[in-house]
Amino acid sequence: MPRKRDPKSEGELGSPLNGSESDPHRAPKKFKSALGTGDSDGLPCGLDQFRTYPIHKVNRLLEPGPILLVATGSLANKTHNIMTMGFHMMIQHEEPTLVGACIGPWDKSYDNLKRTGECVLAVPAVEMLEKVVDIGNCSGEDVDKWETFGVNPVPAPDPALDSGSGDGKGAEEGRARAPSVGGEGVIANIQCTVQDRALVAKYNLWVLRVVGAWINKDMDLEYGQGNQTPGNDSDPVGGGKPRKREMKMAHHRGDGRFVVDGKEVDLRDRMVKWKEFQG
Ligand SMILES: Cc1cc2nc3c(=O)[nH]c(=O)nc-3n(C[C@H](O)[C@H](O)[C@H](O)COP(=O)(O)O)c2cc1C
Repeated sequence: MPRKRDPKSEGELGSPLNGSESDPHRAPKKFKSALGTGDSDGLPCGLDQFRTYPIHKVNRLLEPGPILLVATGSLANKTHNIMTMGFHMMIQHEEPTLVGACIGPWDKSYDNLKRTGECVLAVPAVEMLEKVVDIGNCSGEDVDKWETFGVNPVPAPDPALDSGSGDGKGAEEGRARAPSVGGEGVIANIQCTVQDRALVAKYNLWVLRVVGAWINKDMDLEYGQGNQTPGNDSDPVGGGKPRKREMKMAHHRGDGRFVVDGKEVDLRDRMVKWKEFQG
């Protein structure tokens, strides 16, 4: 996606204007000790251990949620399209589950989303990464990306018919339905409807409501790691069955580089205040 550089956010020689704010000699008196003035005692303290970073690159620090594919349009009238998206965030756990997605008018997918108010967020596994990048480097305006990249559009299941998933709000007949993304390399498909367009004109930020979710049967619920111990039989996803393979997500670092899920650090026993989000 185009990332316009704001000259105001960078000083000469590429140093950000906020550089002066982190200069302890220019900071208001009351903050001086917290920022640190140097190595008076020979040890790094306060901000001494940091250096300024260009504001327009902070996405490289914040972006690494899983890279996603976004399917829009409808198979029925052949308007289905697919794009790559790195800018997204969870907004609300439930009632309803909300996700923020940045999809701009430079994408053909934007027109589809505007028209139908529906999309599917697909989570690709790392095996698909090269395709995912290629899909994000061309437009459905010029190529049939499904065909070109051998990605399989699957008519979306109706959440209302799936008792295990969805809130039943997607059942209206005749509604354009974005396809899911099929294939072994896809970890999950998350079906969404547009909940709120208020921030679209200003920020290209769509607030999406999750109405259904489907996860690859080879996959367990624990972040795509295939080396977890199997869940119990009552686990609705792959419960009790041995994991068949690792399915790792890839996380965009903002410039075409990615990091791939690694070793899990399990600190669930410290989550004393947030038990409801476990299990
Ligand atoms: C790694 C990567 C991440 C991207 N993230 C976004 C994003 O968050 N939002 C966006 O609008 N475009 C993003 N893009 C650009 C779109 O994927 C690109 O414009 C796409 O080809 C649009 O396809 P379409 O015109 O067929 O809709 C990204 C591209 C790549 C390669």
